[in-house]
Amino acid sequence: MTSFPNQEKIALVTGGNRGIGFEVCRQLAKAGLHVIMGSRDREKGRSAAERLAKDGINVHSLPLDVTDPKSIQSVKSVIESDYGRLDVLVNNAGVYLDEAAGILHMDEQIFRDTLEANFYGPLRLCRAFVPKMIERGYGRVVNVSSGLGAMDGLSERSAAYGLSKLALNGLTRVVADESRRGDVKVNSACPGWVRTEMGGGFRSSKSGERGGNDCLACNPGQEGSDRRVLPRPKIHSLVIRISRPKTGDMGDALQTHRDYSFWRT
Ligand SMILES: NC(=O)c1ccc[n+]([C@@H]2O[C@H](COP(=O)([O-])OP(=O)(O)OC[C@H]3O[C@@H](n4cnc5c(N)ncnc54)[C@H](OP(=O)(O)O)[C@@H]3O)[C@@H](O)[C@H]2O)c1
Repeated sequence: MTSFPNQEKIALVTGGNRGIGFEVCRQLAKAGLHVIMGSRDREKGRSAAERLAKDGINVHSLPLDVTDPKSIQSVKSVIESDYGRLDVLVNNAGVYLDEAAGILHMDEQIFRDTLEANFYGPLRLCRAFVPKMIERGYGRVVNVSSGLGAMDGLSERSAAYGLSKLALNGLTRVVADESRRGDVKVNSACPGWVRTEMGGGFRSSKSGERGGNDCLACNPGQEGSDRRVLPRPKIHSLVIRISRPKTGDMGDALQTHRDYSFWRT
């Protein structure tokens, strides 16, 4: 099995210029990984990377729009030529376009735009990078999902968003299944309700830092374990809710699974 220190790991985080993605970039870089921060707006990416640099944290920002196959291809080419491989993919970029509209009446375009970013984006990125992870025998993928996309979390509220995350969880399942060779692990994670632009500035008590941390805390599985996803009987969705009972706002108990471990393992 391939196993190497964080210092040699190359990570790509989509939507890394703000919110949870920004914190995921910060925390992975602090853990010693070489982080590529995907940002759909080049300038926003540059200024986010500069903000981290002021704290002594270096990341490499690249323009990346997950709805644009050419943009993904171009990032893939840069990663292959500059780094030779990708070890960690965090599919974090997402949109939440339908807070108020019910599915029966909403403009179909809202539904399509939501799926483009939240489902087809991660699908394209998995197709771009996971085959090589399988070939090399090492890889970690975290799809940043939501409790609203759990089977028992779906409701008329935010239906397009919820269904896009349900599809993302399904994607996690099938890519995990297809990646069984070698040490490749594919998981979904829910950060809980987090104070970001999407989460609504002050409505949630949970900071982006904690949201980012929680996305990473439940991730990619123990080195040496052949467990890639929760065992089948426990799956009604692959969302792992790890909001802490006292501070999380989603009302979920802490649910981690022993087969999940931390980046530093
Ligand atoms: N906040 C919460 O309470 C919460 C709860 C559960 C799950 N989540 C999930 O956590 C993830 C991050 O959410 P957040 O709260 O940090 O949201 P956010 O503050 O709105 O940030 C979203 C990020 O995604 C980027 N993005 C959107 N569309 C993109 C595209 N087509 N290509 C590339 N990047 C794109 C945005 O880029 P721009 O800056 O260019 O717009 C931004 O960097 C999402 O997947 C979300 O569904 C959040």
